[in-house]
Formats: sequence, structure tokens, C-alpha cells
Amino acid sequence: MEPTRAHCLKSHSMVLLVLVLVSPALAAPRPPHLGPIPPQHLRCEYLKNPRGMDVLRPRFAWWLSSPRRGESETAYQILVSTSREALARNRGDEWDSGKVTSSQSTQIVYAGRPLESGMTYFWKVRWWNGEGDASPYSEPARFEMGLLHRDEWHGEWIGGANLLRKPFALPGMVRRARVYVAALGYYQLRLNGRRIGHNVLDPAWTTYPKRVLYRTYDVTHALRDGHNVIGVMLGGGWATQTAGGIPGYYTAPALLLQMNITLTDGREIGIASDASWQMHSGPILRDSVYNGEIYDARLEQPGWDRPGFDASGWQPARRMAGSAGKLSAEMMPPIRVVDTLVPRGMSNPRPGVYVYDFGQNISGWARLRVRGPRGTRVEMRYAELVYPDGTIDRENLRGAKARDVYILKGQGLETFQPQFTYHGFQYVELTGYPGTPGLDTLRARVVHTAVSPAGNFVASNPLLNQIQRLIHWSQVSNLMSIPTDCDQRNERQGWMGDAQLSAEEAMMNFNMAAFYTNFIRDIRDAQKPNGEIPDTVPHKYGSYPADPAWGTAYPLLCWYMWQQYGDRRILRQNYAALQKYESYLESRAANNVLRYSYYGDWVAIAPTPGALVSDFYYEYDTRILASIARVLGHSADAETYSRLAGEIRTAFNGAFFNPKTGQYATGSQTADALALFLHLPPKGRGGQVMAHLTNDILYRHNTHLTTGIIGTKYLLPVLTEYGRNDLAYELATQTTYPSWGYMVRRGATTLWELWQDKTGPSMNSHDHIMFGSIGSWFYTALGGIRLAPGSQGYRRIVFQPQIVENLRWVSATLDTVRGVVSCSWKHEPGRIEIRVEVPVNAGASVVVPQEEQMTRVVIRESGRVVWEDGHFVPSDPGVLTGKREGDGYEFTVASGSYDFQLTGE
Ligand code: BGC
Repeated sequence: MEPTRAHCLKSHSMVLLVLVLVSPALAAPRPPHLGPIPPQHLRCEYLKNPRGMDVLRPRFAWWLSSPRRGESETAYQILVSTSREALARNRGDEWDSGKVTSSQSTQIVYAGRPLESGMTYFWKVRWWNGEGDASPYSEPARFEMGLLHRDEWHGEWIGGANLLRKPFALPGMVRRARVYVAALGYYQLRLNGRRIGHNVLDPAWTTYPKRVLYRTYDVTHALRDGHNVIGVMLGGGWATQTAGGIPGYYTAPALLLQMNITLTDGREIGIASDASWQMHSGPILRDSVYNGEIYDARLEQPGWDRPGFDASGWQPARRMAGSAGKLSAEMMPPIRVVDTLVPRGMSNPRPGVYVYDFGQNISGWARLRVRGPRGTRVEMRYAELVYPDGTIDRENLRGAKARDVYILKGQGLETFQPQFTYHGFQYVELTGYPGTPGLDTLRARVVHTAVSPAGNFVASNPLLNQIQRLIHWSQVSNLMSIPTDCDQRNERQGWMGDAQLSAEEAMMNFNMAAFYTNFIRDIRDAQKPNGEIPDTVPHKYGSYPADPAWGTAYPLLCWYMWQQYGDRRILRQNYAALQKYESYLESRAANNVLRYSYYGDWVAIAPTPGALVSDFYYEYDTRILASIARVLGHSADAETYSRLAGEIRTAFNGAFFNPKTGQYATGSQTADALALFLHLPPKGRGGQVMAHLTNDILYRHNTHLTTGIIGTKYLLPVLTEYGRNDLAYELATQTTYPSWGYMVRRGATTLWELWQDKTGPSMNSHDHIMFGSIGSWFYTALGGIRLAPGSQGYRRIVFQPQIVENLRWVSATLDTVRGVVSCSWKHEPGRIEIRVEVPVNAGASVVVPQEEQMTRVVIRESGRVVWEDGHFVPSDPGVLTGKREGDGYEFTVASGSYDFQLTGE
């Protein structure tokens, strides 16, 4: 049903009220027809044209755009076919959804014939708007299934050496060929002398004994009629890496490979890893995630991955025990080299020692160009820091050797970059270089999971932009198939605390849905039968069971997936396991208080009892489980968990609230902020707690925070919610210790592990994402983009920018599952302007604040008056209602772009 609009015209003192029933189509010139959805706006399982999926009922999504306000989808039709030609004739021979009356444009579940292993499917979609106009079909998009059954893998796990090869002959031309590769460790795939694909450090790190991921490559054009050679280089990666005192999963890497070839005459040929492959130790003498790579170019085997190579010095490949775990498709963006940095400068602090500064702390490695005598050994050591004398400071790397060594073959210009390691660094020390290196000797290769950016935040205060930049770099450098704590020292683990604290920020800044879908499954894989989950996933460091503030990553990530992406499936898939986790917490609680804790408000300045932090998350997890139960329609469970949450809340107050002073426990900022965040204070006492909190910030700490990683995530949102956004802003832009600005002032290019610029060894990473949790506050408070209460996937949005006196303007944009959501504002005395963008199928309210004591307020939208003389003026298409709300004015709007301007005296 389209809403009708009332048009109100006003002239001089005479008010002429004309009610006209019109459709919003009159708002803008009505296009002759709706355009097709462009292919880049189509998604299958959150990915563009995914290859090698093992989800049997994949979900489709599309972005709709329209120049008109109030546009909505009222129906859609999806066609899925095994051939492009059939699809072009509008035949959905696998699935024709028919015209489905619905306003859904995401999470549409495939409901056609069973999808088959290895098949490619083409799909397209069209939609109908409120007037019943149909769009043409979109251009076709594609998705391809992986190997769905274990018995389609005919090979065996093999290994024994870094190089593996298999020559084979094809009796004809190739119509289609796919390679499926799984490895315990890392691999590089080669065919006939060419590297296949651009992925590095593949596959993702999983709990290998339970699950190994495989990728699918289209190698149709790399094969030829006649002789071919497939080659694989293997590295140990996390399969062999000792970490946290725990040995690697395996002592050597292993490969499982399946190649399925269809010739033009229809014959099918399979090539699989087995003992008929050949192996050679090759040039990589040593490779380790922490310690780097030693590569002796004299041991290269030129031509080993091409036909005609003399492999007489090679051995038969060794059969390996491999993993008995499940083989699953790797359905998230791969790790890639995403950028190459030129050094900002170089110095020569000691004879023969050259230090390159790349100006940015990154994850990745260096690429070396060198000419020199055979056998020359060139070493590159990586560091985040330098000493005042310009030499590199590697104290904070702890046991990680973080160095790559290249031994020259002595044949003209040689280039080298490691393949099976990565480092966290800004500086590279080069030694052993034959002659004098130049600025072009080294380049830095930026390497991480290639998630695409989804958010943009810019403000008129450059410090905020610098912090945003630090968040961006710390976030991506800690995406290495799993979310890691750091990227440089002998750790780099999937610490769940770090993961949960950064997840909201990450989901706003990047397209994280596929990444977290994978990680959530990793968490489930790590769960013990009694419900326990570990501190790190996959588990190496830390404990089983997790500290509750770390274990909370499981319910929280699932919940954020629902909120940000509207992903109901992930709630359903994890519900039983989440219940088990909840039961485990219950079993550890006494009188409804969960006290066990290892880390508490980690790296805090003022102490907070660990028990309070654990108990806070116990309440939070229980409440979230109640919400999940509600979404899934398990209303009895929802009630049980809600009731339990209430009991925990009472017990929390009994255990930690001091009714005399109105503070929680030690009265630390974290203690008070956590309680306020979940609205835990007893009735009528919230104001007192808030006063205690603000006094602590202002008077005891001279407008500084004292929070660790846990408190920091909630402190600013709490201040904003309880009316002290001004104070939140002051903390966000503070430049003395402890603050983000302090890090920026001290030259940080990524966020530190500690508020202190400590230079001792042990815990002193300069690239941790934990304090990056402020990133979501940038979008929600300063940018003003929030989900409406109870909404998900940006279906209903509240734009409520917190306009700060010292900030002239902010611009925030999010690529959501429904399309672009943006809010930007600027203000000057007597005037506030807010522009918002609401995607098709979404609706929003826009809260326009006013300056204190402003009178004669007039609000215009795109030049038309919508508020005057204390009343909503309903004249504007798309602006549905308007009313006073608190200190501001709240308008509800339909989809489209709006430009509100408030003026007053
Ligand atoms: C990691 C943290 C992690 C913590 C657990 C540290 O070693 O680097 O980020 O969350 O241990 O307290």
C-alpha cells in the first residue's frame, strides 16, 4: 500500500490548505520503466559470482536503486539455470521463483532443484515497484558449486617436500577444467609454468583435524591438448607452527588436490594427488609464520612446473596421514597482496646495515630486487619500531624471528618475496646486500584477507580522520583468514576478546559477512560437548573455557550478523550450540553471579574486578540469547532466558552496586559504564551512576579515560546515550595520555596494544585492533547512522547525528545489505544541515537537533518548508511525519535522498 500525501501550500498570511491524494511517483519525474539491477549489485552468499560453494540452499541478495523517493519493492522473480542460453530465454530450469509478493531483497533462499557438485549456475532477478511496474531482468550473475561429497575427492594426502609435481597428457582440447585444492599449511598452485590465481597464504587457518578448507580454481585456459604439468609449492603455515608452547597440528604440510577436466568431445578426466606425484625439497630451506623464510635460489628447479622437465632427481611423493576432518569450501575473500608500498625513506645507521621506512605499519612482507654473486646471503629483518639511532627495535616481537633470507643464484637481476610467512612491520632492515642498495631495492607488499571496504567516515577534525585511518590499518592487518590480535610477534591468534570488541566497527568499515560466517563456524568447531569454547579460535593460546569476556564473541558475533546483515540463518544454525554455551556459563555461576575471569578489563589503567566484567557478559549473553530465541520464534525459550537475565541483573547489583556511593565495585569508569550500557542500575539510580562516571572522567582524571579494552568499547556509547556526547567527543579527541590522540601524536600508524607507549619487551604490540572499537561510535554517534530499535539489516534506520560544537561537519556512509546508507551534516551558528540517503525498501527517521535556546526555528527539506511555527508542514513528498522529539525534531522518511536544513535565531 502506498501512503498518500497531503500537500500543504502557504502564502503570506493566508493559509490555503489543499489536500491532494497523490502517489509519491509525482515526487520526481516518473521514469518510463525501472532499469535492470546492475550485475555488481547482485550477491550470492554475500559474494559476487562465488566459485566453489558448498551451501546447498544459497541465499541471494540485490541492491535496488531508484531516483525516486518512496520507492519500494513489492515483488521479485528469480530465475536460476544451468545455462546462460536458457537464462537468456527467461527459463529458470533449476529454479523459477515465480512472481513472489515480497519486499525482501536480501537473504532470499534458493528453493529450486537440488544443486549439484561442480556445476555452474546462472541467475538473474527482476522486481516490481509500488505501481506494479516491472524492471527488466538483471544481467546474469553466476555461482558455482564445489565438491559436495567426500567421495568425489579421489586423491590422497601427499607431501614430503616443498615442491610437488605431476605430469599428465590430455588426449584432446579442454572444454572445462577445475582444480580443487585443500592443504594442511599453505600452497601455491602452478600449471604449465604459470601461477594459478592470486591467493596467498591459502587455505584459511582452521582447526585442521576437524575441518580443512578448499578453494576452486577455473583452469580451463591453462591446460592444453597434449603434455601438461601441475605443480604445487607447499609451506607449513599454521599446520606446523608451534604457538603458545603448543606444537603444530602436524610435523609437515600436506596437499589434497582434485582436478576435473572435461574435453571438448565430452570425455572426463580426473587428476588427483597421490603417490604417483613427484617431490623435491626445492629452494625453500625453511618457512615459518613467525620466523620467516630462508630461500636458496641456487636450489631452484627451473622449469619444474612445465612439460619437458627432467625430473630424474625427484622422488615419489610421500603419502601423508592428512586430516580426517571435513572438507569445506572456503567461502570468503582470500588473503591477497592488496597493495605495494614504496619506502618513505632509508637510512644507513651502521656499515652494511640499511633501514627502510615504509611510513605505515602493515602486515605482509618485502619484495627484494638484487644483483650479485652466487651464494650471497641477503637478510631482511622486520620491525615496527626503531631506536633513536635508527637501528630497528625488535624487542616487542618476543620469540618471532621475523626475517626472510635470500641466497642469490647469481644470474642478473633477481627478485624475491617470501610466500609462506608474513610479518607486521613498518621498517625493514637489509643486511648482506652486495653493494649499495637504493630506494628501489625494497617494496612492501600489503597482505591480508581482501575484504572490500564498506564504510567511509570523514570529519572536519583531522584527528578523527587520523584515528579512523589507524582503525582501518589495524583492522585489515589483523584479518588473516581469522580475526587476529596482532600481526608481528609470536602470537597472531584468533583471540576472541579482540574479535568481539572490533566486530561492529569491522562490519561498518568492511564487508565482513562472509568472513565472520566462516569464523563463527570455526568457533562452533572448537566447542566442547559440555558447551565450553576457548579463548582463541582455532585454539592454541589461552584457555578452555574462555574468559567470559572472550567467549562472548560467539553470541555477540552471531547477533551482530543479524543486526548488520539480517542473517537469520546464522542464528538458526548456531542456536543449539549457543544454548550449550549458555548452559555452560550457568553451570559456572553461583547464585546467578558468574565470577570466573582471567583477563577482565584487559590492559586497563584503573582496575575493575574481573568478576564484574564476567558477570556483565553473563547478563549480556543471556539477554542476547533471549533475543535470538525471539527472532527464531522460540518464545518459551525467550521467556526463560529473559527471566534468567533479570535474575542475573538483580544478582549483579547485589554483588557489585554500592547504594551509598552510587558506584559499581571500584567505581572505575569501566565498572560504571558496563552497568549503564546494559541499563543494570536499580530503578532511579542510573543518574547517580552516570554522575559518578562523569565525575571520575572530568575531575579525577582530567577528562581522560582509564578503561581497558572492555570498558573502552562501551564508554563512549554510554556517554552519548545518557546525554553527554560532548564528553564522549572530548575523550575521543584527547591528545594526552591515555588517548587515541596520544598514539597519533607519538607517530602511530596503527593502534597499540596498550595506552602506554611502552618500549619494554613482552606485551607491547603496535598493531592491535582492540581499542579500534571506537570506530562504531564514529558511525553511530558522530555519523548518526543507527538501526532503529528492533530492526536489522538497515531496514529501518534512525539518523540522529550528535552535532558537536567544535566539529563543523561529518560525513558517514555505509554500504549495507540493502544499499547505500549515508548521513552527513554541517553546522554553523543558526544553521544545521543534514543530508541522508535511505535505500529502496528501507525507511528512516531523521532527528534534526537544534542549538540550545534557538527560536523561530524553520526546517526545510530540499528547499521546501517542513517545519514552521512549531508545526510539521506536510508538503514534501517522502517526508511522512514530523514532530518535536526531545531537543530536536523527528521526521519519518521513505527511501530516497533528503537534505534537511534547520535555521533559527
Ligand atoms: C593478546 C590480546 C588478548 C590477550 C588475552 C594477549 O596476548 O595479544 O589481545 O586478548 O592476550 O588477554
